[in-house]
Amino acid sequence: MYPLTRLRRTRINEWSRRLVQENNISSSDLILPIFIKDGKNITEEIPSMPGVFRYSLDSLHKIIDRALKNKIPAIALFPEINNNKKNTKGTEATNKNNLVCRAIKEIKKNYKKEIGIICDVALDPYTSHGHDGIIKNNIVDNDLTITTLVKQSLIQAEAGCDVIAPSDMMDGRIGEIRKALEKNNYKDTLILSYAAKYVSNFYGPFRNAVGSETKLKSDKKNYQMDFHNSEESLREINLDIEEGADMVMIKPGLAYLDIISKVKNSFNIPIVAYNVSGEYSMMKHAIKEKILPDAAIYEMMISFKRAGANAVVTYFANEIVEKFLKS
Ligand code: PBG
Repeated sequence: MYPLTRLRRTRINEWSRRLVQENNISSSDLILPIFIKDGKNITEEIPSMPGVFRYSLDSLHKIIDRALKNKIPAIALFPEINNNKKNTKGTEATNKNNLVCRAIKEIKKNYKKEIGIICDVALDPYTSHGHDGIIKNNIVDNDLTITTLVKQSLIQAEAGCDVIAPSDMMDGRIGEIRKALEKNNYKDTLILSYAAKYVSNFYGPFRNAVGSETKLKSDKKNYQMDFHNSEESLREINLDIEEGADMVMIKPGLAYLDIISKVKNSFNIPIVAYNVSGEYSMMKHAIKEKILPDAAIYEMMISFKRAGANAVVTYFANEIVEKFLKS
């Protein structure tokens, strides 16, 4: 008891603060999302996400070189698909020559195994209605959607994608995708399941970035998780592990640290937190307006690590390394 115990003793000096530090972040914990689009020589800033750009394939090297320099282990690709390629069934998702597959091949050709490629498996960039699956009788049809997701996964794996990341929240899709990967000899392709993905207001800027926001006429409540629930996330994660996921995603991140911590305490599987677009834009805005200092970004990252995340998908990835992790 006080005064024999004084917790401030370890806080007095920098060396002792360093010595007792429980959590930390390194560039190896970061995944950089990258938006891609068709065209030539395009690097365009996304209005809703200042500092984040869409790249045509011939301009991708700018951002990938920067990520490599920063020792970021993996990137996650998100396509903005031309409107004329979208339809109700999202068939472009299964075209072997679509934007994502071309991007994977290009990146693999230029960078070999230097950087991991993660690709979303979901139909929302490809559907004219902006939903993640195929609609039948006014609802996104689970099983019909899985059939397409399996095809989408296989063509992405064939193109050279390292990590398949189903983000659509259909039931049973991890198992079906895993079986198909095994059967087609992609046995080392990883699956990062967006296992606990909530219906969230924080996805707005992303939908603007991939152009699904104006399409979407209703919400995603009949497939993404209700944010009033937390126990349910454990059931979701349990199933995805049983079905063959290698890593699980919790999304969004910042307002869901309780979920990360709960999952960490219940399972032994790598956890990835998605620091989503709304969290990025909010913080970016506050920093731009000088309401918050830059260091708030670093603090936010540590909070993900402290909660139990092994890695964080963040639009700040390069900035974090450049500002806080270079000594
Ligand atoms: C959809 C998908 C979304 C994000 C990644 N994949 C949005 C959605 O569910 O509408 C959001 C990412 C972000 O907000 O940064 N498959």
